Amino acid sequence: MAGDIALSVDHLVKSFRIHQQKTNSLKQLIAARGRNRYDDFVAVDDVTFDVREGEVFGIIGQNGSGKSTLLKCMAGILQPNSGTVQVFRRMGALLELGAGFHPELTGRENIFLNAAILGMGRREIALRFDEIVDFSGLHTFIDQPVKTYSSGMYVRLAFAVAINVDPQLLIVDEILAVGDVSFQRRCLEKFVEFRSEGRTIVLVTHDMGSVKNLCDRAIWLEHGKAIDEGDPADLVEAYTERMLGGAAPAADGSVRRGSGEIRITEVEMFTQGDPTPVKRCRTSDSIVLRLHYQAEKTVPQPVIGIEIQSLGGATVTAPNTRDVGMVPPNMSGTGVVDITIPRVDLLPGTYDLHTSITDFNRAYVYDHVQLALRFDVMTGKPYETGGLVTMRPQWSLS
Ligand SMILES: Nc1ncnc2c1ncn2[C@@H]1O[C@H](COP(=O)(O)OP(=O)(O)OP(=O)(O)O)[C@@H](O)[C@H]1O
Ligand SMILES: [Mg+2]
Repeated sequence: MAGDIALSVDHLVKSFRIHQQKTNSLKQLIAARGRNRYDDFVAVDDVTFDVREGEVFGIIGQNGSGKSTLLKCMAGILQPNSGTVQVFRRMGALLELGAGFHPELTGRENIFLNAAILGMGRREIALRFDEIVDFSGLHTFIDQPVKTYSSGMYVRLAFAVAINVDPQLLIVDEILAVGDVSFQRRCLEKFVEFRSEGRTIVLVTHDMGSVKNLCDRAIWLEHGKAIDEGDPADLVEAYTERMLGGAAPAADGSVRRGSGEIRITEVEMFTQGDPTPVKRCRTSDSIVLRLHYQAEKTVPQPVIGIEIQSLGGATVTAPNTRDVGMVPPNMSGTGVVDITIPRVDLLPGTYDLHTSITDFNRAYVYDHVQLALRFDVMTGKPYETGGLVTMRPQWSLS
């Protein structure tokens, strides 16, 4: 029923015991005798919130702010130190990579184990087993231990189990960053379907676009504390402003800051030989990134830079014109800068392109556009299932 509570978290605290560095001298050893050498690190610090039936509820926050720990407490994988989690609906959980599966057991064994943790009886699991395997697409690997799986395969299996236990409440930790583009798309479709069926979803993600587009409500964690809760668009704005220092996102999700004496007005991507701009390419494609600029006045020695980031927030590459000794004495008017990338070494996934123009010292920012372009990399050559880039390895077995 609308308005009912699907999940309730009350004054939840979770800390980890961090052991001090080993003593390395006899003197230290004697001095430390009898004392426990550890600290307690509070990862989730007195967090309280309710998730209502039928809501898509987002959790945002910087790396290490406690999101995954909170989710693991909700799923019963971790025991909180104090406070409670009450789950009122059948839960499906897609946790951080590695949580909830046993590496030594096979895919088949893990399906039974995982589904049982999520509250499904053995008979019921057996009935749904084929469907789970079909959805995962891992038929040939199902009797291999999951430690041999790639991270993408792992997530496929976890997702197949999570959605096939017929959950009324689905909790998901940043899956869009793993898995290939087709899998990401399938997950998104499943979310939208679940949402329209009135199921409840709790979503942890660094993708602010998903938070704004999918979520009905969100909370913001910082150092384990819930520092804000409410409308996703407001929260995302406040969060990006905090992260990037004083700028609000535009309609397309991009965030701009800088003095504005010269600006990047548009960013386009082209694949070889095609004059129409695209938002996707394949591993090994040759591409051109075209930055259009417009200067209000003549700026001396501008340095132009780009940064390519994964959805999970890893910087894959961040070249600039100063590093290659290409700084013009000055720039004015309008024009374009073409960055030709002869061979894209990115593996399938979604990536964000940020652009900047600064002074020679990279200290004074004329223009910085966070998320100037989001693009997808589709499967190309070589085909690899893990990581962000290919190193084009040559294998030899003897
Ligand atoms: N098993 C553990 N033992 C000790 N410390 C831990 C453990 N798990 C998490 N932590 C610490 O707790 C803090 C919160 O970690 P958590 O993984 O919940 O962050 P997060 O918000 O999910 O980050 P990210 O955005 O990088 O996924 C971090 O400082 C982390 O180092
Ligand atoms: Mg996490």
